Amino acid sequence: MVSPDTFRSVIGRFASGVAIITAVDEAGVDHGMTATAFCSVSLIPPLVQVCVDQSTTMHRVLERGSHFVVNLLSSGQEELSRRFGSGETRRGGIAEEERFDGVGYTRGVSGAALLNDALAHIECQVFDRHVAGDHTIVVGEVELATAHDGRPLIYYRGGYTQLER
Ligand SMILES: Cc1cc2nc3c(=O)[nH]c(=O)nc-3n(C[C@H](O)[C@H](O)[C@H](O)COP(=O)(O)O)c2cc1C
Repeated sequence: MVSPDTFRSVIGRFASGVAIITAVDEAGVDHGMTATAFCSVSLIPPLVQVCVDQSTTMHRVLERGSHFVVNLLSSGQEELSRRFGSGETRRGGIAEEERFDGVGYTRGVSGAALLNDALAHIECQVFDRHVAGDHTIVVGEVELATAHDGRPLIYYRGGYTQLER
């Protein structure tokens, strides 16, 4: 068995962009969660996937919800990534219900937050869900996608960085 520490250390060598997944629950409450386990899946139809830890609030929201937005973060949004990625049970974590305080956003067609200054907004309808270990792979069919000018925020080996060129 590969230990969790080894697994993290090895997977951390795979540099990625950073996304914040947003969704509105059945009571109309906003939710957001930082995720790097995101990738595209299919071109026709356009599908993306995100792996969501089953212990998170976002997991509960997407179990029942039909829509979510993937906000791809730009290089200036490290603070936002930390805010939506700390988990309230951890030290320094921000309570889930306070994460949107002071954060600028508009709303997509589903009502989910489109965060200001993101590099791209990908509006999805839930297409499929697959339980995989302690996560669920949530596949989304892309209904709307918008790209904006800017540079990406990069996550590598447990820290944030930026493209050099
Ligand atoms: C850089 C970064 C990447 C993360 N990627 C994921 C991910 O892909 N999937 C996931 O479920 N959680 C991921 N997390 C952890 C969640 O963002 C974190 O557990 C979440 O904020 C928990 O919120 P809650 O438990 O208060 O609902 C990541 C956190 C950070 C900081």
